[in-house]
Amino acid sequence: MSQMKSANLAITNRCNFNCSHCSVNAGINKKELSFNEINRIYKKLKKLGFEKIDIGGGEPLLRKDIVDIVSAAKRQGFEAKILTNGSLVSENLLKKLNRAHLDGIAVSLDSVDFDTERKIRCINKKTFSTVIKNIKKIKKFGFYTKINCVLCNSTMHRLNGLISFCEKNKIDELRICYFLPIGRGASFRRRELVPPLKWLKYIKKNLNSSKKTKIFVGALIAKKGTKNTDCLVHNNENLDIFPDKKAYVCPVMKHQGKSAGKIDSLNLNVKHKRACFPLLKNFFRKNYIPKGYQFVCPLRKFLTADVT
Ligand SMILES: C[S@@+](CC[C@H](N)C(=O)[O-])C[C@H]1O[C@@H](n2cnc3c(N)ncnc32)[C@H](O)[C@@H]1O
Ligand code: SF4
Repeated sequence: MSQMKSANLAITNRCNFNCSHCSVNAGINKKELSFNEINRIYKKLKKLGFEKIDIGGGEPLLRKDIVDIVSAAKRQGFEAKILTNGSLVSENLLKKLNRAHLDGIAVSLDSVDFDTERKIRCINKKTFSTVIKNIKKIKKFGFYTKINCVLCNSTMHRLNGLISFCEKNKIDELRICYFLPIGRGASFRRRELVPPLKWLKYIKKNLNSSKKTKIFVGALIAKKGTKNTDCLVHNNENLDIFPDKKAYVCPVMKHQGKSAGKIDSLNLNVKHKRACFPLLKNFFRKNYIPKGYQFVCPLRKFLTADVT
């Protein structure tokens, strides 16, 4: 079964955080897409059959015209979500985003323990508390609320606390992502990369029977025979578009500088397969895919029970 075509639109490179793992190197320049450019991109994506847009960055809530950007996506008929670090949310903004019919908000939170979170996101205690409060506000406003967590060496031991937080606050979805050694993350890979099997087993061991929150993992390996493990970008189901208008079929392709072209002149026939496979194989060598397991595109999402 083919996935819904989904695009990640980085509307700005600016960010008020400076996360050490940032896959997109946010903040290295101040480039952003103008509102007119964004509208043209929506039209192009519509023509290409895309149905879903995740509006991110950098930090998308730094844009004063974020409500207009969401409204325009909804007018074109997209399912639209915002991906945010959660620090710039206000009740006033949430009211406006509600009126613009935004479909959901995904906040990045790797741990509910401040000392753990600051290792990755380099934020102070006040900002951390604001993010936690804002996640609760988003939920209270009735948005589909998702938490994206990057589970790496520094954050692993706090997974239980994060799951309990999601349950207690009736968070709709928790996505546990594998740390990718790309962007700024490339320079601290030795510290943060966890062998894929250890990662998967750890999650399985620590999952209590979650009822209110749907928990998905973006694993790197799965039991042999698991279905739908193929590279997500294989069928051009995913597109990452950046403020310079360059599009990539997966974030790893951006790290490798292999663009599918500018959004106005895309070449989606280029075959990109398993871009992350050689990148990660390099680190784990022969322990990468243990016996009985197979490679899985980390952009796909699975229930843990399906992959372990
Ligand atoms: C690049 S950020 C942009 C949106 C927003 N600023 C935020 O932090 O949510 C999008 C997502 O990518 C995740 N991310 C950043 N660096 C990563 C890495 N090296 N590996 C995996 N995910 C990463 C972030 O945690 C966040 O959930
Ligand atoms: S992960 Fe998000 S919040 Fe952190 S620096 Fe990158 S864009 Fe900013």
